Amino acid sequence: MNNYEYLIVERQAAVGLIRLNRPKMLNALSFGVFREIATAIDELEADDAIGCIVLTGNEKAFAAGADIKEMQPKTFIDMFNADFHTIGGNRVTTCRKPTIAAVSGYALGGGCELAMMCDFIIASDTAKFGQPEITLGTIPGIGGTQRLTRAIGKAKAMDLCLTGRMMDAAEAERAGLVSRVVPADKLMEETMAAAEKIAAMSRPAAAMAKDAVNRAFETTLSEGMSVERDLFHATFALEDRAEGMAAFIEKRPATIRNR
Ligand code: CAA
Repeated sequence: MNNYEYLIVERQAAVGLIRLNRPKMLNALSFGVFREIATAIDELEADDAIGCIVLTGNEKAFAAGADIKEMQPKTFIDMFNADFHTIGGNRVTTCRKPTIAAVSGYALGGGCELAMMCDFIIASDTAKFGQPEITLGTIPGIGGTQRLTRAIGKAKAMDLCLTGRMMDAAEAERAGLVSRVVPADKLMEETMAAAEKIAAMSRPAAAMAKDAVNRAFETTLSEGMSVERDLFHATFALEDRAEGMAAFIEKRPATIRNR
């Protein structure tokens, strides 16, 4: 188990919970925070007891963006050499276990980008999403122009990236950025319930489903269909697939063995 300065990392049954813990700075994402997120993903991904990972903040902020105070003195070459893009959450997107962002309050700039790196977002009714980098004379740097555009389309992505305005939870749900909106006091309960449900599924099947959906963002329809077909066929090599179908026919619960 690692010691974390900026995170609280817990295990609740089969769910790994990563909580950003810089409340005085609205969970601003410093290089150190990103490094710790990568370490936490490494730790939880290597833990066979964990089947799903939840990333969250606190009631006021999921994260209000990259740490502006840390970035302010940096030059082009500082940022180029540091490769902010790779440090900034790449490890979240390479995680093979399903990931959910539970967002309450501000998810701005790098915070919105970090949430979008997860497989899906559950938002509280207090959530506010935005890419306000333009107001600082810069632009999104870890996926805001790309993942946001794929998630909500050009018109709204342009609106958010060019005006820097925030979008509330209802607008984010209408736009397709979040999968569901729940009352603020139910956010963790609902998210953990969803995560536990996912963790109870066949892990290899979940990894294949995640892989196939993610491929839709990377490739053409025909290539994506081909990947889906191959992965679907591959599930027929899983004991869990044989057991899942047998259990359905025999009207009994399936015993999932993750193989
Ligand atoms: N970086 C560093 N510190 C931050 C921060 C950030 N992104 N966001 C908030 N803080 C700090 C504030 O400076 C303040 O610290 P002090 O108490 O020391 O002054 C503390 O957190 C509380 O913030 P506020 O007093 O501003 O709280 P508020 O409720 O009045 O406003 C807010 C909340 C609207 C979210 C406002 O804090 C804000 O606009 N934050 C910046 C949002 C932003 O521009 N994010 C994009 C960053 S750039 C980026 O993310 C690049 C990228 O793509 C990777």
